[in-house]
Amino acid sequence: MSANTPCHRSAQSSQLSNSPVTRRTTASDKKLLRCPFPYFGGKSSIVPIVNERFGEITALREPFAGSAALTLAREPVAHEALNDVNHYIVNFWRAIKSDPESVAEHAHHPVTEADLHARSTYLFRGDAVKGAQHRIAQDPEYFDPRLAGWYAWGKSCQIANAFEGVQKSKPSMRGNGVCVPVYRTQRARQLALIDWFGALAERLHNVRILYGDWQRLVSAPSSLGLFNKNSISGIFLDPPYAHSLARVQQLLGLATEISDPDRGRTDCYLCDDDKSQVDQLVADVNHWCQQSGSNPRLRIALCGYSGEHDNLVSDHSWTKHSWTTHGGWANTSKKTDTRGKENKSRETIWFSPGCVGE
Ligand SMILES: C[S@@+](CC[C@H](N)C(=O)[O-])C[C@H]1O[C@@H](n2cnc3c(N)ncnc32)[C@H](O)[C@@H]1O
Repeated sequence: MSANTPCHRSAQSSQLSNSPVTRRTTASDKKLLRCPFPYFGGKSSIVPIVNERFGEITALREPFAGSAALTLAREPVAHEALNDVNHYIVNFWRAIKSDPESVAEHAHHPVTEADLHARSTYLFRGDAVKGAQHRIAQDPEYFDPRLAGWYAWGKSCQIANAFEGVQKSKPSMRGNGVCVPVYRTQRARQLALIDWFGALAERLHNVRILYGDWQRLVSAPSSLGLFNKNSISGIFLDPPYAHSLARVQQLLGLATEISDPDRGRTDCYLCDDDKSQVDQLVADVNHWCQQSGSNPRLRIALCGYSGEHDNLVSDHSWTKHSWTTHGGWANTSKKTDTRGKENKSRETIWFSPGCVGE
């Protein structure tokens, strides 16, 4: 089988496995247990706080997984599941789990702008991906290592959404592709990628990877990981942040007027319909938290911007922790007024009453 072709879990491993390569690492190599590309809204910096408040758990759920920051940084527990609605993300984690060497092969590429645009077109506008998206949804065994490797490479070459279709008049000179620091030889870099992706595959070995709406993962005791009376489940909810705090408050029945409809997130590529869908999603998550937070076997952490979910504190005995990011990708911009910079001091996590260790 060519490593260029999509495959199933049962398929033989990649071309690279024919070369004399022995993976030298295991999932215990902690520095390798991180997503190989930058991800908007990634939460690796607050993992220690969430771990402390979750304490000993038997199940872990990330319904809005993205770069899977929490799962990757924790020791495994008995029942773990990642979910995302983004098929590129789901394909990436499926492919890493099943054939890390093929993904490494496709992610191993120098940074060249012509390739970036060509691969961007292939990944985000071509028919090939429509087919892959369909198959990812229809076939739980399906993955495409080339799509996964190119996705990781492209997101590591440039800042923000440039890879996803925005052509900039001034080229960005940041981003070294996947794998930093830069290795002295091609072969050393290739081996490093195989080690890295292999360690991720080891870590994800027992992790279920789901593709769809977040609610599927929180709708029943078994999907939440509550299998018996000793089960304690950590639920890490990190939905996209609201565009309008007032609109969310109105959807929750906590306010009657919208006074700040344009208060927004850093992501500025959404149309108004999408924005109100995000606000509805945030309200739905808040509503689920109101209903589920009193379950002592659930330890729920909910991420958002300051004020988004304060009704959980005032009306439902939740606690909150505010923190500051380094501004994410927006901090790399020369402009001083980007929303990412503005939002960096507004990050908050709300913890349900079942959490420990405050
Ligand atoms: C803020 S990011 C999560 C970041 C993640 N915690 C990390 O550390 O990388 C939000 C994620 O939610 C996903 N998402 C958006 N709407 C969703 C939905 N209705 N159901 C499941 N996932 C969704 C997005 O694709 C995105 O990956």
